[in-house]
Amino acid sequence: MEGPTLMPSVKSACFVIIHITIWIIVPQLCHSPVQATFGTTPNIKHIVIGRCFTYTTLVQPGLRYDCEEIWMQFEKAVVQQSSCNVTEEHYFEMFNMMPQIWPCDSFLFWSKTRMLMHRYAAVFSHFWTLEDTLVGYLFNDLIWCGQEEDSGYFDFNYCPAWSTCRTHPVYSLWKQASQNFAEMACGNITVLLNGSIVNAFNRKSMFGSVELDSLNPQRVNYVNIKVVTNLEGPHMFRQRVEIKQVVWIIQIDSCSQGSIIELIQILWTRGFRWTCTESDLTLVILQCIQDLNQPRCQMLANSLLQQKDLTST
Ligand SMILES: *[C@@H]1O[C@H](CO)[C@@H](O)[C@H](O)[C@H]1NC(C)=O
Ligand SMILES: *[C@@H]1O[C@H](CO)[C@@H](O)[C@H](O)[C@H]1NC(C)=O
Ligand SMILES: *[C@@H]1O[C@H](CO)[C@@H](O)[C@H](O)[C@H]1NC(C)=O
Repeated sequence: MEGPTLMPSVKSACFVIIHITIWIIVPQLCHSPVQATFGTTPNIKHIVIGRCFTYTTLVQPGLRYDCEEIWMQFEKAVVQQSSCNVTEEHYFEMFNMMPQIWPCDSFLFWSKTRMLMHRYAAVFSHFWTLEDTLVGYLFNDLIWCGQEEDSGYFDFNYCPAWSTCRTHPVYSLWKQASQNFAEMACGNITVLLNGSIVNAFNRKSMFGSVELDSLNPQRVNYVNIKVVTNLEGPHMFRQRVEIKQVVWIIQIDSCSQGSIIELIQILWTRGFRWTCTESDLTLVILQCIQDLNQPRCQMLANSLLQQKDLTST
């Protein structure tokens, strides 16, 4: 019952190579999630405990969690280690204090589609993302680390970048949270990927490195992949620079080409059923709301208006 099988040979069709003899500077596409120059988010204790009470009182009322105790376990995990030495295990006691169960068919995973994912999840309120879990809600957008030595204090002046340590306190928490979330996933799950970047499916992303491996084929019915491309069309990026020559590659990652084939092969090998869509109407409409002047949106609007004319005459 797998989706359509895809020929590996189409891989080579995904590149359009253009040689041009001028130099154009392309802005860097990757940013580090944690800025090296910032320290722990100021007032982190008040933010986390406040969010915890908001969550348990307003967002998911009726759930009983000990917000003060969750904070204490978190603080203990972070400040008793040096800033680059906090592993997932250090957070185990904190995670034990916040067990959570989600309904099946509601799990939404995403990679490099954060803004759109938020709008999508707002429209389909049955979807749950990691940010809707208690741990995701508490720590979203925060930065934290202990001081270099095991001093018992957060470092509010400076935290190392993720890339500089193997066991960064922020990374380890998200890694464990992502793993727990994916292990719980059941029924149909949805994965929102960005078809306008170099690797829509990236083995180094949280989805590719943690969540995918934690999904259980016995619990998951279908993995429904949705690939979204930017309305302006594919991104161009500079692949290789030779003397007086820039090689441009137009990347189009879709269900049948580029990195998503790799994802589908992994799913297939592990016994998952899957589907893959490239032009989900809801997602295109959500993108168009932001930018109606795009030709693709004009076309869509015209075709919708025509349909309306047909039905009203
Ligand atoms: C990191 O933690 C391990 C075990 O918790 C410890 O043996 C090691 O010395 C620590 N390294 C640093 C740089 O603090
Ligand atoms: C895809 O990624 C690019 C680069 O990070 C970003 O500008 C764009 O908004 C993303 N597209 C979607 C649909 O999220
Ligand atoms: C699960 O996904 C499959 C494939 O997209 C679909 O046929 C089925 O109706 C879905 N089931 C639920 C409960 O959403």
